[in-house]
Amino acid sequence: MKIKELKLNEIYKMDCLDGLKKLKNESIDLIITSPPYADRREGEYKSIKTNEYVNWFIPIAEELYRVLKPSGSFFINIKSHCSKGERELYVYELVIALKKKLGWRFVDEFTWTKNGVPGRFKGRFKNGFEPIFHFAKSSEIIFNPYAVGVPMKEESIKRANRKATGLTKNGSGFAGMRRNETMVNRSLALPSNHLHIPQKSNQYTLQSKHPAVFPVELPEFFIKAFSDEGQVVLDPFMGSGTTAIASEMLGRKWLGFETEAKYIEIANERLKGYADSK
Ligand SMILES: C[S@@+](CC[C@H](N)C(=O)[O-])C[C@H]1O[C@@H](n2cnc3c(N)ncnc32)[C@H](O)[C@@H]1O
Repeated sequence: MKIKELKLNEIYKMDCLDGLKKLKNESIDLIITSPPYADRREGEYKSIKTNEYVNWFIPIAEELYRVLKPSGSFFINIKSHCSKGERELYVYELVIALKKKLGWRFVDEFTWTKNGVPGRFKGRFKNGFEPIFHFAKSSEIIFNPYAVGVPMKEESIKRANRKATGLTKNGSGFAGMRRNETMVNRSLALPSNHLHIPQKSNQYTLQSKHPAVFPVELPEFFIKAFSDEGQVVLDPFMGSGTTAIASEMLGRKWLGFETEAKYIEIANERLKGYADSK
């Protein structure tokens, strides 16, 4: 299958801005990515100054908007670093620009547990989480919450099945919530927007090969909850191929761009390893 000039299930060695231009309008179901964190990996791959970041990303975000289907979602994992004792603002400026300049809907902000470098910092604690910003083009997005449901504890099942004691006076509150089928479906509870991802995964074993690998559980979560089987997942900054692996594992098609040949090589090795293990 081809979308315009590009075949699916391939990583293309190109700047994503050029690659995106080769894709048809509304040909992608889901976008998950982690772009360069400004100039944090200078010398490893493309580095962008914090004060140029928003202007650098806007044309890419315009293309992402064009290629995404109205039912699709766009997840971007990025965190501002601290310099001179203060947190930089470029990520917040980017979020505002995506919403206010380009018209993306800012659906939500997720966080995932990621322990930063241990140590003592002046006036602040070490990092313990990374944000993921969720954008969409419409309010009618694909959403399969129970695909990421977790088994409910015995006690919670009992509580969920307990007869409601009545509505609160203003008609809101706990009693009303308990009747809401999207909150509880007897045996599965829905996760929150903070993801506890075990810190055992590939980012450690692969770290020597790619400096910024995210755990495969991260794209897995978003693929399960925000796409259907057989749909197309795009990662415009594919790195070592984590989004591609998660897509393969979950029966989705995928496509990616990456500027560095050495990372494409790692990604292809990982994909081959996964195919051989099946
Ligand atoms: C934060 S890393 C992504 C890591 C990836 N999530 C993984 O798990 O391996 C960002 C990647 O984007 C690549 N990159 C930087 N600028 C790019 C561009 N304009 N187009 C495509 N890839 C780019 C870098 O080489 C780097 O591998």
